[in-house]
Amino acid sequence: MRDIDALWQRLQAKQKQLHNVHMREQCAADDARFSRYSLQAGELFLDYSKNRIDDEALALMIELVEASGLTERRDAMFAGAKINQTEGRAVLHTALRAGPEARVDVDGCNVVSQVHAELQRIEDFVGAVRAGQLKGASGQAFTDVVNIGIGGSDLGPAMVCEALRPYRGDGPALHFVSNVDPVQMTDTLAGLNPATTLFIIVSKTFTTQETMANAALAQQWLLTAFGSQEQVLQHCVAVTSNPHSAQAQGFAPEQTFLFWDWVGGRYSLWSSVGLSIALALGMDNFRALLAGARETDEHFCEAPLADNMPVILAMLGVWYRNFWSAGSHAVLPYSQRLSRLPAFLQQLDMESNGKQVRMDGRPVACATGPVIWGEPGTNGQHAFYQLLHQGTDLIPCDILFALEGDTDCAAEHRILIANAIAQGEALMCGKTTEQLREELVAAGVEGEQLALLSAHRNFPGNKPSNSLVFKRLSPKALGSLIALYEHKVFCQGVIWGINSFDQWGVELGKQLAKGVLDRLNKATPADSKPASLLDWVVKSR
Ligand code: F6P
Repeated sequence: MRDIDALWQRLQAKQKQLHNVHMREQCAADDARFSRYSLQAGELFLDYSKNRIDDEALALMIELVEASGLTERRDAMFAGAKINQTEGRAVLHTALRAGPEARVDVDGCNVVSQVHAELQRIEDFVGAVRAGQLKGASGQAFTDVVNIGIGGSDLGPAMVCEALRPYRGDGPALHFVSNVDPVQMTDTLAGLNPATTLFIIVSKTFTTQETMANAALAQQWLLTAFGSQEQVLQHCVAVTSNPHSAQAQGFAPEQTFLFWDWVGGRYSLWSSVGLSIALALGMDNFRALLAGARETDEHFCEAPLADNMPVILAMLGVWYRNFWSAGSHAVLPYSQRLSRLPAFLQQLDMESNGKQVRMDGRPVACATGPVIWGEPGTNGQHAFYQLLHQGTDLIPCDILFALEGDTDCAAEHRILIANAIAQGEALMCGKTTEQLREELVAAGVEGEQLALLSAHRNFPGNKPSNSLVFKRLSPKALGSLIALYEHKVFCQGVIWGINSFDQWGVELGKQLAKGVLDRLNKATPADSKPASLLDWVVKSR
């Protein structure tokens, strides 16, 4: 039997044993549980003591990580090997945040020097826009910037700009348009003045249907205001790894910011795709974001597996997905500014690890990526936490919060933190039957009603959660946090033996939509009874 199969069986046996153990009892019996199962990595503190684990379970998972070849694959990724085999590409989002002294070669070319050259172009552009030196067609400075992109060309920058809003200073206001539903673009344009608006058209491929359609709408709006294509282009820049396509659409090289095929869309906010972030927050803050990610990269490469934060989060994710049948994972930021984090992590995790085929083309033998979902606390508490506490599924949660808020409202921030901590405790401890009974009796409940309410108000606990804490939601802390999740997702992909860096599953829908659109454009209804939804729609419009 292979090592991995044997380990898998030992982990299954361990799960059976821990299934009947309550975390409440584990904590009561072990004063050191919190200090043993928590760690600091740079700006980030992780408490993972509220998990269905013990030392033996962790040791087995570390053996599993070792047997999966994680360290070799991690080193190969950082070194620029073409680990994205199905697309024949290196995977080097880490090179986007490497210091200028670093060297990583792809096809004989040092990509780090390319990265820093492009960062310098971004810095010059950002400086000129923020200082009001670069002006629009009518000689006015830009007050508003609209980022047009979708998926990785939208979610990361939108999430970061929202999270770091207090760092904006006197930078332009940022707007994000992603959906091909024209209401998003028309609503956005309704509040803007063409003379002071700059558009960034962001698309790795520069062919994405939604982005191209939205760019056309924006350019039409500019054309109506200015009258000439030359003036329209004074209000637009492109960000892409396909400069030929951008050029074919009129973008001169000096209006085009580049990134490379070794940057996956969902890993691209560190590249020129982050132009909107740099414009919103200024270059120093953008560089602080990169520095935070670099700190996590160093931790990931250097810390022993047992003290390695992304590895620990990944092991716990695999533990629940494969040994406790957890189909989903909740991300609960106690931070309104992190309201877009769950959506960003959905793409990062689900597009990376939503796979059913191993690297070698064989089907996977186990469940892979879970559904990622979530909402900021405390809002979620008044919506779906009921299911977390008393539903029939086990749903591991990540609870995130900052020790300090970025308003003057310290008392309200304490309420936020109190709720974050209380939820972790409630999920873990629940309420014992005796406690519940005592409370009900004290409230005068008796007889049949006591039995009934004891059942309905039963609070079993033993629900796992991680708490991720940082001092403030600063650019550096956020950079560290995003890189932490990137590496967690990577480690899980390695353990499952899948390629986390392609996304073939999104292609079929795109192909079919083209044919459907052709039919809608022709709009010739079939005479006979509709045989499909498309027929019916064509007939009904
Ligand atoms: O359809 C999925 C996807 O390819 C994502 O992986 C990507 O982030 C997004 O579309 C946008 O792609 P592009 O940046 O090429 O427009």
